[in-house]
Amino acid sequence: MSLRIHSLMGIQVLDSRGRPTVCARMTLSDGSVHKATVPSGASTGRHEAQELRDAGSPFSEKYFGGSSVYLAVANINNIIAPKLIGCQPDLLTVDTTLAKLDESTRHEILGANATLAISLVCAIAQAHAQQVTLARLFQPTGALTIPMPMVNILSGGAHAKGALDIQDVLVIAHGAQTIAEALSWISAIRERASQAGAARGFITNLVADEGGLGIPFSSTDEACAFVTDCITDVGLSLTSEVGLALDVAATQFFDQGNYISRSTGKVFSGDQWRDQIHSLLNNHPILSIEDPFAEDDWNQWAQFSQGLHRPVQVLGDDLFTTQATRLAKGVHEKSANSILIKPNQNGLVSKTHEVLLQAKAAGFTTVVSARSGESEDSWLSDLAVGWNAGQIKVGSTHGSERTAKWNRLLEIEATEESVFSKPF
Ligand code: PGA
Ligand code: ZN
Repeated sequence: MSLRIHSLMGIQVLDSRGRPTVCARMTLSDGSVHKATVPSGASTGRHEAQELRDAGSPFSEKYFGGSSVYLAVANINNIIAPKLIGCQPDLLTVDTTLAKLDESTRHEILGANATLAISLVCAIAQAHAQQVTLARLFQPTGALTIPMPMVNILSGGAHAKGALDIQDVLVIAHGAQTIAEALSWISAIRERASQAGAARGFITNLVADEGGLGIPFSSTDEACAFVTDCITDVGLSLTSEVGLALDVAATQFFDQGNYISRSTGKVFSGDQWRDQIHSLLNNHPILSIEDPFAEDDWNQWAQFSQGLHRPVQVLGDDLFTTQATRLAKGVHEKSANSILIKPNQNGLVSKTHEVLLQAKAAGFTTVVSARSGESEDSWLSDLAVGWNAGQIKVGSTHGSERTAKWNRLLEIEATEESVFSKPF
């Protein structure tokens, strides 16, 4: 007997930053209960799907200074649920219904936080109905590929009150044979960074939004050198075992064609900034660089990607915002060679998957990513595995909202036939 949706509701819950977010709760005709909570970004791209918050509504003054999500919850309860109750939990059908209910390009009518919560809970319930894991809903047979993690060590930018100009210095344990080994290496590096930071007189028990250390370095060069020292201090090789990744999040400090360093006040033209990025790549073992230019500075992206001095993963986050049209432009203009895939930038699970497949077809690498505001859910790990994304980025090794994702990957590795992705 096929299962039906018995009840569906939205609930306002808290994310890892203590801000309101949307949880969708679905029960099926067998009495099973399924939930999905949507994440939320801080360094959001201008082109991403729009979450609906209550500023300007009757709720706005009363709760969370206008950032409450009661309107999105009401859209779930009053508009979406009546259409879906009694139907089978089928992701493609539900996403089609959601797209019809809100034909706006960025889900601004119902709110992308409402649509994504429903889309996710439906995928989770469908997996239950088919008696498989969420990962296996997308890849029913064969060995699963565990994604290579990209993990925050240092945080700056919008996530750590400007401790660094760039947003994150991360590491990739490309020489590890399993995710268990990768996380053990990275955990040691994170611990070493904490000790070395404390030895320099910084407070390192306070962490940034994604669990990285918010140590105020005077330059990105210094921050990169600090992390490479930590890697070698714990006995790991910078060539064969662990490399760096940067998330520049350059949109955050771009103004009228210039890139402005918040720490020094120095103003760089686009060309000068491109030279800065090249010099970072020349001086440090950087394997991947995310958002080195602003979200609409297409010209610099293309010049940079086509003028690389050595192979490097050029990763578009704010540039693409998990949107098919922006990715198509980037593929055409050779702006990058990799895309960050964030389900809440898109608003629907099936459409997010389509963007990932479009990227792979163009020869791009794909990095499934969490947001700075997260929940204890681990559906992202299942999606990254089931979609064979190859890489995943969920913040640091600290914070239960982060470890929920790592721990789900460790569980999949321990219980399923799997291989560890080797994108570098
Ligand atoms: P956000 O940051 O979730 O605050 O947008 C994550 C990222 O830029 O990758
Ligand atoms: Zn980013």
